[in-house]
Amino acid sequence: MGQVKLIVSNWKMNLNLLNSTNLIEDLLRISHSDSFKHIICPQFILIPLVSNLLKDSKINLGAQDCWYEKTGAFTGDTGIELLKEYDCRYIILGHSERRNHHKEKNELIKKKVDLVISEGLKPIICIGETIKERKKNNYLEVLENQLKLCIPNEYNEVIIAYEPIWSIGTGLTPSYKEIIEIQNFTEKFLKKHKMIKKLYFLYGGSVNSDNFGEIMNNTNVNGALIGGASLKTTEMKKILTFC
Ligand code: PGA
Repeated sequence: MGQVKLIVSNWKMNLNLLNSTNLIEDLLRISHSDSFKHIICPQFILIPLVSNLLKDSKINLGAQDCWYEKTGAFTGDTGIELLKEYDCRYIILGHSERRNHHKEKNELIKKKVDLVISEGLKPIICIGETIKERKKNNYLEVLENQLKLCIPNEYNEVIIAYEPIWSIGTGLTPSYKEIIEIQNFTEKFLKKHKMIKKLYFLYGGSVNSDNFGEIMNNTNVNGALIGGASLKTTEMKKILTFC
C-alpha cells in the first residue's frame, strides 16, 4: 500500500491561458509536504504553459489521455513523445467521459496503458459503474471486467481511480462503506489475478473540501481524483492543507 497520497487535479476541458496561470500561481504558494503528491492534468493545449509554470516546483504534470501509438497518421490525437518533452509523468486513462463520448473500450484503454508504461510514465486508470449497473446490482461484475481488461498482468505500481459515473459532477458520493467495498474488491482481485507490487487506490467523483477529509478519515483510499473542485484555489488550498 502506498503511504503518500496522490491528489490528481483533472481540469477536464476548462480554464484558459489567464485563469490557468492564476490558478497555478496560487497553488505554487501553498506549501507542499512530502505526505502527498499533487498532479495537475490540464487539457492538451494548456500543457506547454503549465509545464513551464511548474518547472522546478513540487507539483507534477499529467495529461488526460494519449494515443496508443507513438506517432503517425492519427488525426486529432496526441502522442506520448510530446507529452514526455513537456515533463508529463502521469496520464489519466479510461476516464468515463472518454469511455462515453469517445466510445473507448477496455481493449483500447489497455493498449494505451501498455504504451504509457513502456515509455516510463504512470497511467492513472479509471474504473466505475453507471447508476443503472449499481441499481441492478451487477456493478462488481462491471468493475471486475474493467480491472481484468485494463490492468497489465504484471506491473510494479498501479494507480486505480474508482469513479462511480453517477457521482461525477453530481454532488453525490458513495457511502464510505461502498468505497471500502470497492477498494477491498480491487485489492482482492489484483492479488488473485495480477502480479502487482503496489496499489494506489484513489476515489473520484464530487470530491470537494467539505467531504475530502471525511473520505480520507473513514476509508483507506490513497488519494483522490478531483474535477470541479480542482479549478478553485480555495477548494484546493483546504484539500492540500488537510493532506
Ligand atoms: P468531479 O469530477 O470531481 O467534478 O465530480 C471528477 C472526475 O471526473 O475526475
